[in-house]
Parts: sequence; structure tokens; C-alpha cells
Amino acid sequence: MITVAFLTSGKTATAAEQTSLLRLSIREKGGIPFKCGGGICGTCRCKVEQGIENTDAVKPKERRHLTEADLAAGYRMACQTFVTGDVAVSWVPAAPVPEPSHESVPMKAGLRLELREARAMVAGATAEAARIGVAQTVCITDDGGFPIALERMDGARVTGPQIAWNKAFTAAGHKRSTHLFNTPNGPALPGNEAFGIQWSFEGRFAVFVGGFPIVVDGAVVGGIGLSGGNGEQDIACGMAGLRALAELLAPEGLAVLVEPDIKR
Ligand code: FES
Repeated sequence: MITVAFLTSGKTATAAEQTSLLRLSIREKGGIPFKCGGGICGTCRCKVEQGIENTDAVKPKERRHLTEADLAAGYRMACQTFVTGDVAVSWVPAAPVPEPSHESVPMKAGLRLELREARAMVAGATAEAARIGVAQTVCITDDGGFPIALERMDGARVTGPQIAWNKAFTAAGHKRSTHLFNTPNGPALPGNEAFGIQWSFEGRFAVFVGGFPIVVDGAVVGGIGLSGGNGEQDIACGMAGLRALAELLAPEGLAVLVEPDIKR
């Protein structure tokens, strides 16, 4: 076990090695300020007063907020730092890091889903499909609804790829699980306010079960769509895909939303 002293709040906590500094602070109420938890906002800046040798390598995301001089002085971003031994940290609660201005940051940085992650999601979803005995097609898209990975299992219907893509496209673009359009008493049903939305995009807008947004650290980075099972099976495979991504990204301190009913 290791000991982390939160000097500014006066709290002390123990944890296993390779613990995220911010997660430990949240769990033990250490007091390190934060907002995004994903290296974007700059809020969790803190100074490792003792035990800097017991922290892991500096991540590229930290360099967006910390200069070489900051790093040399022991500053780290708590959400990106894992501790391997005893440390003592402080921070400045009364002087939050200013939000990036348009003058200093001309473009907004964001997360992007990549092929490695898409393939892991497909593998997770198809493994679950095999386990429950259903031939699925799985499509992973980016946040614009364009496919990154698509796999049709042996025996899956030939219509699966287009339908799975439509579901992933809709979930990513409209930032909503597709079944929420029709259940319960969803907005796309006849007589409700969004009835007709299913004819948008030349009919590609899918308003039935099997599409889920991929949400990482609060941002929609893509969609996962499934075709081949009934509603229960599509949801099980979709959640397996999201879980696979969550497990892949956890060591990087990134949180993935794993739940069927997603509406952002
Ligand atoms: S909490 Fe936002 S950068 Fe760490």
C-alpha cells in the first residue's frame, strides 16, 4: 500500500500502487479540484511536493497545461497521474487555472475514436453475440457517423451491415440511443413531436433498438450499431462493446459511459 498526503486539505489516504491521483482524491475526499477528469480542462493541476519519483510518466495531455518549467518544479495533472509510491501533493484552490481563451487556443482539442478502440469494441460485441448464440453485424462509427470498423459474423443477414451502420450513424449524430425514439411512447411515434424524423437523411435515421452513442469523458466520440438480434440481444452486445472500450481506456484515465439509455 502507498500513502498520499493531500497537503492543501490536510487529508491523508492509502491506496494500492498504480492508483490514479485524482480518483483517489475523489474517493477519499482529498480535495484536488477537477472538472473533466480527462486532461482537457486543466483544473486538476497540482504540485507533487514529495515523492515525484513515485509518479508515472508525463502524458501528452498534461503538456497542454504544463510547461517544462512547471514539470521540472513537480507540477502534474492529477487526472493523468498514477502513483506508485508515497507522495505529498498541494494545489492552489483560490486561483483556478483560467479557461483557455480564443487568443491562446485557436482550435478546441477533443477526443477521437481510433481503429484500435473500434476493433476492441467489435471484438467485445461479437464475443457476447457468440456467447448468447446470435449472428450479429457490428458497426463502429466516428462522431460524424462514418464507419471505422464493421464486421458481419458468419450467418448474419446480408442486410446487417447497412442497418448496423444506420443505427451507429443515428446514435452518434443525434447523441441518443436509437430505441429512445420509440420507447416508451418515444418522440418518433405517430402523433408525437418528432414523428417523421425517421425519413431524414434519405431514411438512414434509425429509430429502433440497436444503436448507442459512444461517450468518453462526457463527449460523444462515435456510435455503435448492431443488427441481427432481438432488442434484448442487441442491447447486450452493444453494452459488451462499450464495456470493452471502457476496459481498454481505463488505464489512460478515460471514462466510458456503459448504459443502454443514453441521451446527451
Ligand atoms: S480534471 Fe480536467 S484536466 Fe484533469
